[in-house]
Amino acid sequence: MRYSSKTATAKTVLPGIWKVRLGRPEAATPISLKQIPADKAALIALPAVADCPLLLADWRCTVTAAGFRVEIPVGDDAFFGLGLQLKSHNQKGKKKTLRVNSDPVSDTGDSHAPVPFLLSTQGWGLYADTLRYASFYVASHVPGGEKGVAHHSMETATSTDELYGKANAGANRLVLFIPAAKGVDLYVFAGPTLKQAVQRYNLFSGGGCLPAIWGLGVWYRALGGFTQEDTIRLAAHLREHHMPCDVLGLEPGWQTKAYSCSYLWSPERFPQPQVMLDRLIELGFNVNLWEHAFVHPSSPIHRDLEPYSGDYQIWGGLVPDFTIPAVRDTFGDYHGRELIDKGISGFKLDECDNSDFISYPWSFPEHSQFPSGLDGEQMHSAFGLLYQGCLYAEYRKRNRRTYGEARNSHAFAAPYPFVLYSDLYDHRDFVRGVVNMGFSGLLWSPEVRHAVSEEDLIRRLQSVALSPQALVNAWYIRNPPWMQFDTEKNNRNEFMPGHEKLESACRDIFQLRMRLLPFIYAEFARYRFEGLPPFRSLAMEWPDDINTHKIDDQYLIGDALLVAPMFSGQKERPVYLPAGDWYCFHTRKKYRGGETRTVAADLHTIPLFVRAGHILPLAEPVECVRPDTVFKISAVTFGENCQACRLFEDDGISFDYEREQYNIVSLMWSQDEGPRVTRTGHYSGRRYEIVSWEHVS
Ligand code: GAL
Repeated sequence: MRYSSKTATAKTVLPGIWKVRLGRPEAATPISLKQIPADKAALIALPAVADCPLLLADWRCTVTAAGFRVEIPVGDDAFFGLGLQLKSHNQKGKKKTLRVNSDPVSDTGDSHAPVPFLLSTQGWGLYADTLRYASFYVASHVPGGEKGVAHHSMETATSTDELYGKANAGANRLVLFIPAAKGVDLYVFAGPTLKQAVQRYNLFSGGGCLPAIWGLGVWYRALGGFTQEDTIRLAAHLREHHMPCDVLGLEPGWQTKAYSCSYLWSPERFPQPQVMLDRLIELGFNVNLWEHAFVHPSSPIHRDLEPYSGDYQIWGGLVPDFTIPAVRDTFGDYHGRELIDKGISGFKLDECDNSDFISYPWSFPEHSQFPSGLDGEQMHSAFGLLYQGCLYAEYRKRNRRTYGEARNSHAFAAPYPFVLYSDLYDHRDFVRGVVNMGFSGLLWSPEVRHAVSEEDLIRRLQSVALSPQALVNAWYIRNPPWMQFDTEKNNRNEFMPGHEKLESACRDIFQLRMRLLPFIYAEFARYRFEGLPPFRSLAMEWPDDINTHKIDDQYLIGDALLVAPMFSGQKERPVYLPAGDWYCFHTRKKYRGGETRTVAADLHTIPLFVRAGHILPLAEPVECVRPDTVFKISAVTFGENCQACRLFEDDGISFDYEREQYNIVSLMWSQDEGPRVTRTGHYSGRRYEIVSWEHVS
């Protein structure tokens, strides 16, 4: 059946957000499962947009036995988003099938966190409310009856890109195909700018997350199979060597059973978990536990969950149906009582994605059935976020904030303080993840595991230190990688001669992270209250500058700081500075923007540029953020007429900020008046002390 959408109407849902119902949508969708309400007050504060930016009249819908198709005319825009896309930035001309997958090896749309939300540089976002593996054909194909661009018969090509690249030149439709569905609700998010469309989407999700402040420090995950003794020894080593570290992660081995999971401490490896936890907490560490949601028969919650699980098992464990409140209660209560109340600061939710590209697929099949009526395909899209929601709710109940990891997410993830990660390990793809994540309400860590050289280790650490989560995931390495980057030698305790020098270089990188922590925390507060992602693609900030559309290896932190990571083998790299003046963070030298320049950087330097007119708050680095840590801030002003830098001051660990228990510490500078600091708000504690000012002109 084919029809035009002439009869469809766009209904205003919230300011600047319209819903368009096409056909008969399925019952189970991300919105039907959404647990966090939109932040209406913050949405109202965004600029008003009177009309839906997309004209419905020219949309065409088709329903077939295969599913539902809608074709939407689009202009000459660039397109971004669709979740954690590790292989490409601008989605124009691409076909993406949003399948949940743990090994997204090629540019197909497979992702740990696919999100059916696409943004246009014309300043709108389109969200399709579906849990299906929907395909987005982003101006990639030309329908019959329209003018395509044909090859001349004698034209030959000399590369495959050239041969295939022009096949669909002139395509001007966005086509969305949803298998099995007979209709869909589409939501249009207005800008007027692309960045504001992103903000609207995040605020509709409930606002961005505000992690516990310690979560923005350095993370270290220890070797799987470590014992209690090993863990304490590692913690003491990090402190003795003054390596900044806020979170220690335990990998499989802390439980009696994994894979699947029992959620019980192993009495052999961890005979006194409370003694260890108390010791680690005393040393200033937060402890994060690896787990997945597949429940081993020996687990104390197995019996209660059995009636509410899917009809396929994984690693001999149940797959709980987290859409059912009783499941969330059982799983959540148990974690709260047995682990969170004992001092566990957060969890790493592993294997909540799916597997297709490996020899032995381990996850539940798409044809699985769940008691709620969801099938395996729908459950794959929903699983990670439901699981995050279950554990996040336990922390909220206790008025404690957390920061954790998860390997799967989907639509409306912004309020959940979980960071995505992957077993894939390409450094460039990892940086592209940081560039792309902000278009879809996601956080991502380009974590460091092993390295092939000293250079590789340093370059990777520099990138991760300037990401949402500064994580060393040494789950298969016995000793810190700076003592020996070769995995086998490391596991044989053979250390590199002179490794202290490498350790010191790594310490410098972690200290850079700690210097920037108050700044990054303030940007997360903007994420929370304004929906503005703390890490942003240049294309989000300058969508009208077409040079930014192809830049997938540079990004912004907040408004002020531009990061251009270096990769192994590089002595220099091209850096595009958008229009305006910029300053090199390291040399304070001024550069004119609007052009690409070659920037050289020695191994110990990551190119960083500060946008003129901004104040950067730099903290004296601490080794970890304790409840009473006060950061000593040096404020550096770059250029004249600087806008105020607003630090967010609160206890950093509770939700009291939702009851106005926070201050805004504004750092201001003007040529006439010089530096000025104001503090407004109701929080009685102090987290920041401004100790010095530097003016760079
Ligand atoms: C992987 C995960 C790794 C590590 C490992 C432990 O699936 O991505 O980070 O946790 O499991 O077995």
